[in-house]
Amino acid sequence: MIKTNTKERVATIEIARVEKKNALTQEMYDAMVEALAAAEADAAVRAILIHGTRDCFTAGNDLKDFLDASPGGGRSSGFKFISALPGLTKPLVAAVGGPAVGIGTTMLLHCDLVYASPGARFQMPFVPLGLVPEAASSLLLPMIAGYQRAAELLLLGQPFAADRALAAGFVTEIVPEEKLLEHARNAALAVAALPPASVRLTKQLMKRQLGQAIASQMQEERRIFAERLQSGEAKEAMTAFFEKRKPDFSRF
Ligand code: COA
Repeated sequence: MIKTNTKERVATIEIARVEKKNALTQEMYDAMVEALAAAEADAAVRAILIHGTRDCFTAGNDLKDFLDASPGGGRSSGFKFISALPGLTKPLVAAVGGPAVGIGTTMLLHCDLVYASPGARFQMPFVPLGLVPEAASSLLLPMIAGYQRAAELLLLGQPFAADRALAAGFVTEIVPEEKLLEHARNAALAVAALPPASVRLTKQLMKRQLGQAIASQMQEERRIFAERLQSGEAKEAMTAFFEKRKPDFSRF
């Protein structure tokens, strides 16, 4: 479900669980954490590329795992993945085609280069799911997109297209679907061919002021998120998804 390979100094992570729209399970997070650590540790790797299938990046966290999460527990693999992103010293390149939901969008805020096809469809449905944002998106999105634009995307939590993601500032470029993967890979190869220390130090300088703030926001989000997972609002939202009906929040 997570496929990895390293070619020409680029480590690639492919999310492939097609029948469930690449929804991420604990095992998939663990595999991605392992792949990121291996890429960081391998001096021959100069850039990391993450992508899904052509018509789907990822539907985000597996909602069954959310529904089954025990109080206070459950999400440690997802959190480990999220926590690994800000500290990456090597450039992270993403190619996004089709849905990029929840962490499928928030992980992009930690990427250095993000390419999306015109059919990419982003969404951070934390509020509609009775949850709160994660991956420090409640800090990073207002910084990147401006408060009102972030508020619309995070409070309403509706899907939006690639042009809006580009305008919000977290997509680098929109690329035709048939060229998406090649384009993203070429960008990864281009950065991999540059002087590695200079690349690493430049990334480090750009991130220097934010590290502590990101870590602290992630902790606070995690605390509230874990509480929200047990809420009646979240249970209703996720049960409604699997029952293929509209949730009803009128009793809350
Ligand atoms: N967790 C678990 N299963 C998921 C899933 C998720 N996040 N997203 C999709 N699936 C499953 C569906 O239950 C369905 O399974 P089934 O065939 O056994 O019924 C299958 O994947 C296909 O999904 P479907 O909704 O029919 O595809 P679609 O093309 O109509 O819509 C999405 C795609 C991604 C827009 C839609 O599936 C969706 O909104 N998923 C939920 C996203 C979400 O809320 N993620 C959590 C963010 S915090």
